[in-house]
Amino acid sequence: MKDVRTGAQSQWQRKRVFIRTYGCQMNIYDSDRMADVLRPLGYALSDSPEQADLVVLNTCHIRERASEKVYSELGRLRDLKAERHLEGSDLTIAVAGCVAQAEGEEIVRRQPAVDIVVGPQAYHRLPELLARAARKSDERRFDGRRRPGAGVLDTEFPAESKFDHLPAPSDADVRAGSAFLAIQEGCDKFCTFCVVPYTRGAEYSRPAAEVLQEARALVAAGAVELTLLGQNVNAYHGEAAPGSIGGSTWGLARLIREIAEIDGLVRIRYTTSHPRDMDDDLITAHRDVPQLMPYLHLPVQSGSDRILEAMNRGHGRDHYRRLVDRLRAVSPDLALSSDFIVGFPGESDADFDDTMRLVDEIGFASAYTFKYSRRPGTPGAALGDQLDENLKTARLAALQSLLGTQQRDFNLSKVGTVVPVLFAEAGRKPGQVLGKSPWLQSVYVEGDADMIGSIVNVRLLAAYALSLAGEVVAGESPSRFEVAA
Ligand code: 5AD
Ligand code: SF4
Repeated sequence: MKDVRTGAQSQWQRKRVFIRTYGCQMNIYDSDRMADVLRPLGYALSDSPEQADLVVLNTCHIRERASEKVYSELGRLRDLKAERHLEGSDLTIAVAGCVAQAEGEEIVRRQPAVDIVVGPQAYHRLPELLARAARKSDERRFDGRRRPGAGVLDTEFPAESKFDHLPAPSDADVRAGSAFLAIQEGCDKFCTFCVVPYTRGAEYSRPAAEVLQEARALVAAGAVELTLLGQNVNAYHGEAAPGSIGGSTWGLARLIREIAEIDGLVRIRYTTSHPRDMDDDLITAHRDVPQLMPYLHLPVQSGSDRILEAMNRGHGRDHYRRLVDRLRAVSPDLALSSDFIVGFPGESDADFDDTMRLVDEIGFASAYTFKYSRRPGTPGAALGDQLDENLKTARLAALQSLLGTQQRDFNLSKVGTVVPVLFAEAGRKPGQVLGKSPWLQSVYVEGDADMIGSIVNVRLLAAYALSLAGEVVAGESPSRFEVAA
């Protein structure tokens, strides 16, 4: 594999790594970066643990169920490791991500087969951790006893940023014309339900020059779409690019405007945003920057002022409504999505009704909905008045039904229009290809695999709950998101 910046070629690829990713887009991004770190050590990607020498579980701690999945997967890997020992070989098991950060030694205690536990800020130290794990395993081999894992831990938050140490992106980081670019990590908001400030650490914004360089490299490697990532992406305030005018830091809007200057880049997205950080400049960027896609994931979590306050969100329902009005005033096509939590401690029927009413008023194109999950160490976990599970389930169903109707209506509203679609993969049926509209809708058409990675005009013919069917329309790829009604 060739490195975009240095052009260096790895010399040998004898080992295989299987990386399983749980959770958010930041984790998907991190998994790619781990693959980049491991590649020069000779690790090629494998499709299954059975064919791998090293398995990395890149874990998510956000809800209880996400962490529990990790422990059941580790049980399966322990068995696989035991089989390898019988054959005289080994399987190295690494746990990365937010469960690694939050639970550290507890993981090795619960599952002694684990060799490495590495937190999200320490991926650049994987080569060293692998070497330490290998040394420990060798010592145990000479013992001749049934060997547990090496149990090497690294969950320090280093003083310097991991981004200073991770390798430059490679061609492999661009998939079907699309790439993620982490510009910001961590969070200082401390919503009372959320583990992110504890597992990912304090908010950190990468310097603008570094982001621009990486953006150019990704476009040179074939990306036509970039998604700027951060746990709190619109809190971005990176060091200004040297020689630029207008202050010592850049906000997200400035960064987007500069990235939009890169030749060949057609689509820009960013996620995840906080309603408190949507400043005027970012709102107007939705009017001025044609590459900025008309879709915004702006989680509100609840429509009740009382619950928003208890969640420590730092804004009320009216702030959210006004924000959406201002965004729609500058960008009438803008579609919104949100995350919602039902059943936060103390949520009354009236609070939940407020959420339903807000959803009704705003109209969302899509949404992610969750039952409140009590996370140890967060202030929410210590609150009294934890809600009954059945009540949470009933509220979730009601909310999902309303949001499902809105999503279908939104999809229906686009039928008959011609929109540019970035094709990403083969469809479920032979002869179909699947891609994304500017509003992140899944669109499939009859077409060839050679369309994958390019943006093609599609007339939308039919809408379903989660996707749209369309047909390719001859003609140039447009620069703006909707071509004609
Ligand atoms: N319980 C339920 N949902 C949660 N989220 C974060 N923490 C919790 C929790 N403890 C949801 C929020 C957030 C999304 C990524 O996950 O809605 O925006
Ligand atoms: Fe978690 Fe709140 Fe930070 Fe989002 S803003 S990552 S929900 S603490």
